[in-house]
Amino acid sequence: MSKNQVSQDQLKQAAAQAAIDYVLKHLEDDAFLGIGTGSTANCFIDLLAQYKGRIKGTVASSEASAQRLRDHGINVFELNTTGGVQIYIDGADELNPALELIKGGGGALTREKIIAAAADDFVCIADQSKWVEHLGQFSVPVEVIPMARSYVAREIFKLGGEAVYRQGVVTDNGNVILDVQRLHPIAAPKALEEKLNNITGVVTNGLFALRPANRVLLSTPEGVKTLKPSH
Ligand code: 5RP
Repeated sequence: MSKNQVSQDQLKQAAAQAAIDYVLKHLEDDAFLGIGTGSTANCFIDLLAQYKGRIKGTVASSEASAQRLRDHGINVFELNTTGGVQIYIDGADELNPALELIKGGGGALTREKIIAAAADDFVCIADQSKWVEHLGQFSVPVEVIPMARSYVAREIFKLGGEAVYRQGVVTDNGNVILDVQRLHPIAAPKALEEKLNNITGVVTNGLFALRPANRVLLSTPEGVKTLKPSH
């Protein structure tokens, strides 16, 4: 297979392997590791299994990731008992040069945002398809208390977005998700993140701009590049 034919799955696998190398080099013996959700995070979890003896424990951003970790015999702890995590590894749906992200395609945005907030070092792993100059082609997921769904959708409309109810999805926290379209290009991600969070009934949204990634391991056919924030 030539460089042009490297599949997205292979790129995700390479990003996950780079994250394993990073964790083995930097994670302290008594520290906890945060683990995200999604197909790239799953590649990471599966690779982590062979090093479980070297990891004190993990904190998972979803029930699905927690189950996958336990299936591999990896210890999973509640964030309330760990006092934070040293490193958090997770994927993204979009990322820009400031390493601001859109996350939540898998519906786990709230727990992901909590772990990112509690992490010393947030390392995002992604294939090159996730890199964009301006966020917003991918819908911004918003987790909402169920009774507030249509009120929040109307408030989002006032902000210029179109909220689409993610039918049939209930989050691990018992809430629903609105996917907000028509926001591209998001000129001020931090301001939009705050505005969305200020709507009553919103739990949180999938913009990770106030707490961006510290680095991104971006997988390309030429290899995995380490990105640091551009400003
Ligand atoms: C889940 C997420 C994921 O990190 C995001 O959707 C990327 O997933 P994948 O690695 O499958 O492309 O935010 O809520």
